[in-house]
This record gives sequence, C-alpha cells and structure tokens, in this order.
Amino acid sequence: MKKIAIRDSEYEPKKSRILRTKRMTATEKLFEIALPGGKSLDHEPGQFVEVSVFGVGEAPISVSSSPTKRGSFELCIRKVGRVTEALHRLEAGDDVGIRGPFGKGFSVRILEGNDLLFVAGGLGIVPLRSLINYVIDNRRDFGTVNILLGCKTPKDMLFNEEVDEWNKRLDVKLNCTVDKADPAWKGNVGLITSLIPGINLDPDRTFGVVVGPPIMYRFVIKELLAKKIPERQILVSLERHMKCGLGKCGHCQIENLYCCQDGPVFTYDKIKNLKGAL
Ligand SMILES: Cc1cc2nc3c(=O)[nH]c(=O)nc-3n(C[C@H](O)[C@H](O)[C@H](O)COP(=O)(O)OP(=O)(O)OC[C@H]3O[C@@H](n4cnc5c(N)ncnc54)[C@H](O)[C@@H]3O)c2cc1C
Ligand code: FES
Repeated sequence: MKKIAIRDSEYEPKKSRILRTKRMTATEKLFEIALPGGKSLDHEPGQFVEVSVFGVGEAPISVSSSPTKRGSFELCIRKVGRVTEALHRLEAGDDVGIRGPFGKGFSVRILEGNDLLFVAGGLGIVPLRSLINYVIDNRRDFGTVNILLGCKTPKDMLFNEEVDEWNKRLDVKLNCTVDKADPAWKGNVGLITSLIPGINLDPDRTFGVVVGPPIMYRFVIKELLAKKIPERQILVSLERHMKCGLGKCGHCQIENLYCCQDGPVFTYDKIKNLKGAL
C-alpha cells in the first residue's frame, strides 16, 4: 500500500526543546522554546500556539516574544489546571509539543505610521509584550507609543525588568497601576480605566490595543470611544476555550466567528454586536 507522508501538519505537535525557564511570580513561569532545528516560529504578534505535555494534554498559549527574536520564542504560562501544572513541572532540557502559530494577530502593517495606545490588564501583558517589543525594535515605523499596565498588586506585575527598560526610553510613555499597593509601590493606585482620560492623543491616528480579563474590555473601550478613537481602530484579543485551533471543533465559536481562526485579535466594530463577545 502506498504510504502518504504528512509533513508539517498543523495537526501534529512538533517535538520542541525548552531552552530556559524563569519563575516570574507564584503562578507564572516563562519558557524559552526552540522548534526542531532552531527553525523560527514566524508568528505575528497576538498569535498563539497549542502547547502539549506528552501524555497529559494540550493548551492554547499566546506567543509572548517578538517575531524579531529569531531561533526561539517565549511563552509565559499561568498555572491553573492539569496541563499548565504539568508545564510548570518542566525545566530546561525537557520537550514539549508545539502546533501553530494559529489565528489572526495584530496586523503590524496596518499599525505602521500610527500612534499606539497599549492597555494591558493582568495576563494581557503576555501577548501585548510581543507587539510592544516588535514596535520598539522597529521604532521608526510607528508614531507615539503610550503603554498602560494594570494588575491586582505589585507582586503580580510581570516582566518587571523589561517594563523598567521601556520606562527609561524617551520615545515611550508608560504608566502602571495596581488595584492594591504595598509600601514600596510608587506608581498609581486604581483601575486602569482611570489612566485613560489623562492621555493626550490624536484620535484619527491612534490605535487602541487592549488585552486583559473579560471584565476590563467594556470599561476600557468606553474610555477609548470617549477619546473619539474610531471603533475600527480599537483592537482587542478575545480568549475562548480553544481546543483544535483550526476552525474544526467549534469550541471557540462566537455566533458566525471562530475565535481561533478569525481572531483572537478583532477590531471592535467587528464584534461589538455579537452576543457574548465582550
Ligand atoms: C488564544 C489563547 C491564548 C492564551 N494565552 C495564554 C497565555 O499566554 N498564558 C496563559 O497562562 N494562559 C493562556 N491562555 C489560557 C490557557 O489556554 C488556559 O489557562 C489553559 O488551557 C488551561 O488548561 P489547564 O489544563 O491547565 O486547565 P484546566 O484544568 O482545563 O482548567 C483550569 C481553568 O482554565 C480554564 N481553561 C481550560 N481550558 C481552557 C482553554 N482552552 N482556553 C482558555 N481557558 C481554559 C478553565 O475555565 C478553568 O478555569 C490562553 C487561552 C487562549 C484561548
Ligand atoms: S478551537 Fe476548535 S474551532 Fe476554534
């Protein structure tokens, strides 16, 4: 019988090596991973991969590093259940399965030449870091850059050293806020929405890029619309219980959209009338 060779199938996890891990908080761990042969992932910021722990299962995880980093890529994973707990037990030298990258990310070509306002709540910094570092590595292609970061407490803040580097740059404006401060905290205290009215922006040439917990979107979008940013210039990344990542299983469906293929990044005008999208 004739054998059919399946090469680079999007159904087949590629056995990939963990090069480095870093514990970031009590619940988040960073993994640097190399595909077989050091091949680049060639992702777009905002895309995700399906990561598998052999014998345990698979989970969708956003790529956190910029495509400008070649030869390996980074994932920041919160420990919440079976697969993510198994991932947290892995260290440098261990193997994982990788499928993807999947989905539509932040189209950098559309953002080029425009001003950017990034709004990241909690784990939202993970996919946004990919785009922020892409923009910083290609800084002359973009207008003004404002970054707003929010999390529950200072100890939940991710990528502290990198955020400090962004903050030192003269061509980036950065503001952090926490819901509850500790005595060492020098930033703002309060919801991330409270930072938006104080931002000076030109709505015609500003893209608002928002990633965070579901509860955050409605309130942040309301503030961006109050700043007169057009709906098609507000980008959000939606998280659903994805399984296949390929538009087959229907787990991620919102009305006629498959979040895994049509998203996870959408412009607000495309999803504002979809029931349960936000
Ligand atoms: C596009 C996308 C990007 C993501 N990026 C990241 C990331 O960068 N870092 C990160 O830590 N997490 C990310 N997640 C969430 C991550 O996929 C889930 O936390 C993970 O699948 C949980 O699997 P588990 O077996 O550990 O947990 P389970 O034991 O299955 O469940 C624990 C909790 O996780 C939730 N959950 C389970 N399966 C999924 C799923 N497929 N999608 C979303 N939530 C789920 C459940 O509601 C439950 O509350 C992303 C999810 C999506 C859809
Ligand atoms: S995750 Fe299966 S259809 Fe989207």
